[in-house]
Amino acid sequence: MRTPIVAGNWKMNKTVAEARELVSEIVPLMKEMTDVKVVLCPPAPALLPIAALLEGTQIRLGAQNMHWEASGAYTGELAPAMVAEFGRFVIIGHSERRAYFGETDETVNKKVHAAQATGLTPIVCVGETLEENEASQTSAVVSRQIKEGLKDVNADLIIAYEPIWAIGTGLAATGEMANETIKTIRAVLAELFGTAKAEEIRILYGGSVKGSNAAEFFSQSDIDGALVGGAALKADGFAEIAAAAQNEVTKK
Ligand code: PGA
Repeated sequence: MRTPIVAGNWKMNKTVAEARELVSEIVPLMKEMTDVKVVLCPPAPALLPIAALLEGTQIRLGAQNMHWEASGAYTGELAPAMVAEFGRFVIIGHSERRAYFGETDETVNKKVHAAQATGLTPIVCVGETLEENEASQTSAVVSRQIKEGLKDVNADLIIAYEPIWAIGTGLAATGEMANETIKTIRAVLAELFGTAKAEEIRILYGGSVKGSNAAEFFSQSDIDGALVGGAALKADGFAEIAAAAQNEVTKK
C-alpha cells in the first residue's frame, strides 16, 4: 500500500515569525496522524528555523523550487544541496513556476535529475489549463509533461496532478475526474518505469483541496494524497485534510 502524503505548499506566504507560529500549531495536531506522511514546503528563509521546530516529529520539510546546477552565478536561486541541508523533498515544475517563471518540461527534467542526484525526492507537478481541459486535451498534456519531465530519471519521485483551473480558485476537480487522469498518469509511469514501480509511486491531487472535500479525493483508487496551497496556511484546515487521509488508511 502507498502511504498517503499530505504536503503543504505555502507559496510566497509567511515570514519566519509567522511560519514558526503556524508550525507550532500544526505539530500537536499531527501527532495522531501516524499513517500519513506530512510534508511542509515553506518559503526558503523558513526552512532552517522550521527544521529545528520539527526535530523529533514525523513531519518532513521540502522546498518549493530549486535550480538544477550545484552552485554558481545564478542570482536569487537555491542550489539542490542547500535544500538538502534541511529538506527531503522539493516541489518541481509547479504550474505557477511554469506560467510566471518560464519553466518548461526541459527545465523540469534537469531539476528532477539534480534532485535525485542530491538525495531529494522531487514532487513533480503536472496539469492542464482550462482551455486544454475544455478541448479534451488533458490526457495528452499530462502524458507529455510526464514523458518529457521524467526523461532518464529514476522512479524515486512523487507526482502531483494539479489541474491549473482548480488551483486557488475554489473549483476543485471531482474525485472521479481527478482519479481518471491520475490513472492515465500511472499508465505513462508504467511505460517509463515498469508496472511494479508505477504502482509504488505516490500520485497526489492538488487544486482547492480542503477539509470538506479531501475525503472525496483520498477515497479514490489511485489518489495517494494531496498537495495543498491555501488550506495549508491554517493549522486546523491543514490538519483536517491530514485527518481525512489518516481516516482512509484506517478504513482499508
Ligand atoms: P490551492 O493550491 O490548494 O490553493 O488550490 C494548490 C497548489 O498550488 O499546490
